[in-house]
Amino acid sequence: MGKDVIVACDFATADETMAFLDRFGGERPFVKIGMELYYAEGPEIVRALKRRGHRIFLDLKLHDIPNTVKKAMRVLSGLDVDLCNLHAAGTAAMMEAALEGLTRPDGTRPLLIAVTQLTSTDQEAMERDLLIREPLESVVLHYAQTARRAGLDGVVCSPLEAERVHAACGKEFLTVTPGVRFAAGQDDQKRVTTPARARELGSDYIVVGRPITAAEDPVAAYRRCVSDFVG
Ligand code: C5P
Repeated sequence: MGKDVIVACDFATADETMAFLDRFGGERPFVKIGMELYYAEGPEIVRALKRRGHRIFLDLKLHDIPNTVKKAMRVLSGLDVDLCNLHAAGTAAMMEAALEGLTRPDGTRPLLIAVTQLTSTDQEAMERDLLIREPLESVVLHYAQTARRAGLDGVVCSPLEAERVHAACGKEFLTVTPGVRFAAGQDDQKRVTTPARARELGSDYIVVGRPITAAEDPVAAYRRCVSDFVG
C-alpha cells in the first residue's frame, strides 16, 4: 500500500454512490464506506464496489466489549475489504480481540487501524465532555502506541499528528488522516490541513469527503488532491 487519496463515499444509497463513481470513468479511486452507506445498503455495497475494482476502507469504527467486537470482526473478515477500523478508546484488550476475530483461518486479514481522537474533537470538547485533561496530541500518541502494542497496523488521526505518530510508532505504522481541506471553511472538522501539508507531515493516506463529493467537479477535486498529496 503506497501513499494514496481515499474518497469518503458518504452517500445515503448505492445508486447515489454508483452515480458519483461513474463520473470517474475507468478510474477506480480507493474508497471509504462509512456508517451511513453501510447501514443503508449492508454488505452488498462492499461486494458491489469490490466487483468494480475499488480498494475499500470500511469505516465502521467498532467500539464495544472485546467479545462482541471479536465476533463482529469475524463477520467483517468475510468481506474482502482492504482496511477496517475500531476506536482505540475500546482499550488494548478490545483491539487484540478484534485482530483475532479479523484473522481468517488461512492467516490473512484486512489491515486494521484505530481511531485515536476524532478530527471533529478539539481540546476543549475532550476536556469538557470526555474529562480527558492531557494535551490532545499526547492523547493521540498514547492511543497510537497502545494500538501498535496491540498489534494493529496504524491509526486514524489528523494529518497534523502524522509526523509525531510516525516518530513514536515507526515509519511503517500507517497514518490514515481525515481532516483535509483545500482552504479555510472546515464544516464540523477541527484539526484540519491541506493535502500538500499532509504530504509534508508524512501522512500515508488522506481521507477526503466533502471537498471532493460536494465539489462542482468532483473528479477535478480528486485529481487536485492526488497531485498535491501523492505528487
Ligand atoms: O467530508 P470530510 O472530508 O470531513 O469526511 C471525512 C470522513 O472521514 C468522514 O467520512 C468521517 O466519518 C471520517 N472520519 C473522520 N475522522 C476520524 C475518522 C473518520 O472525519 N477520526
